Amino acid sequence: MKDNLTLLVVGEGGREFAIAKKLKQSPHVANVYCAPGNVGMLTAGVTPVNIAEMDLNGLLQFAVEHHVDWTFVGPENVLCAGIVDKFQAAGQKIIGPNKRAAQLEGSKDYALRFMNKYHIPTAKHETFTDVDSAIKGLDDFDYPVVLKENGLAGGKGVSIVPDKDTAVDTLHEMFAGPQTAVVLEECLIGPEYSMFCVIADGQYRILPMAQDHKRAYDGDKGPNTGGMGSYCPLPQLSQEDRQSMIKEIVEPTVKGLVDGGYHYHGILYIGLMMTADGPKVIEYNVRFGDPETQVILPRLATDFAELMQAVVDDQPMPEIKENDKAILGVVLAAKGYPTHPAYYPSLGKFPDADGITIDYANVTGRLDDLYGAGGRLAMIIAEADDLKTAKQRVYDYLGQLHEPDCFYRHDIGAKAGV
Ligand code: AMP
Ligand code: GLY
Repeated sequence: MKDNLTLLVVGEGGREFAIAKKLKQSPHVANVYCAPGNVGMLTAGVTPVNIAEMDLNGLLQFAVEHHVDWTFVGPENVLCAGIVDKFQAAGQKIIGPNKRAAQLEGSKDYALRFMNKYHIPTAKHETFTDVDSAIKGLDDFDYPVVLKENGLAGGKGVSIVPDKDTAVDTLHEMFAGPQTAVVLEECLIGPEYSMFCVIADGQYRILPMAQDHKRAYDGDKGPNTGGMGSYCPLPQLSQEDRQSMIKEIVEPTVKGLVDGGYHYHGILYIGLMMTADGPKVIEYNVRFGDPETQVILPRLATDFAELMQAVVDDQPMPEIKENDKAILGVVLAAKGYPTHPAYYPSLGKFPDADGITIDYANVTGRLDDLYGAGGRLAMIIAEADDLKTAKQRVYDYLGQLHEPDCFYRHDIGAKAGV
């Protein structure tokens, strides 16, 4: 393959940090730009570029002017806005689904229709476009029931409610906002997994498995967040269960994409639950997950730039090889996240420590004088021979850190028995 690649990553969070860093580590890659990126990326040899992620014209112009070989898109809103269609129309190579395929994440109802059409197991569901029929529709569901806003909601559009009164109140709130449809779903029970597939027109590869922790506080308490920590691999997941996820979910999904005429070249992240009736899809996401990516990519032994080059050129993808490292990461968030994150907390400088890497997310300022600029600020990650040691390292580091305006969960990895 071509060497001295110049690449552009779109996005600014910890996920994009991990993607850009992994690409930069490839011997085939010379330069990685990230737009807009964050100042922390300088620690990984990645160059932040001051173009907003939704400025599609600005991004295209940058890619042309800087002779970017291909662009990798991190966030869903940019994919749903049609960046792939725009770049392809201008003859620029780009990785990610086009606008049509991005609806698999952009509209829950669209995704459910796709699953119904291609017989992909999911929860019992029904979509409603007005509050009165949604309230009537509750009669067909047991409690707790899951209520989902149809469109993109930044991870905050899902409520699991215990009784009818709460469901009615929540439906009124949901329909009072900008959303025009709400989906009612049966509440699935079982362990939840994130499965990341690399897809190129009918070919697929499965990346190492990771588990996210979505609730804000220890013991899965508190509001849903973008994700508070993750680890990879998953010792509790049997080969048999993983195989059934591939057979019952991934293969029909990939076939559905082909049969439906989708030209999907990118990452498909399937959120699924292993129920007593087998694996069922909770959601499709048309991109990598944050914070799963930060622990998956360090485990990937296949050259990531080679893998992505095959995707963008529609060539046979290399096999996925995993190293034998255990990786665990804990998100450091601004106090008050996800509802009212502390405004611009001073973070100072994060000390270096053996065996610890820091994937920066919403930070600004200078590397020796950082400030928080959002909810999730950085992820503290350790690689070790086993998860227990990795966890110990991360929490030893966090225990010595003095960041009074931040908080983190103390139980990342507990579901793996560490
Ligand atoms: P989403 O925004 O679709 O990622 O959903 C957020 C979280 O809500 C998921 O990660 C699950 O933990 C939970 N969830 C979504 N749908 C269901 C369901 N049908 N049953 C149980 N939990 C669900
Ligand atoms: N980790 C959850 C997400 O990226 O949506």
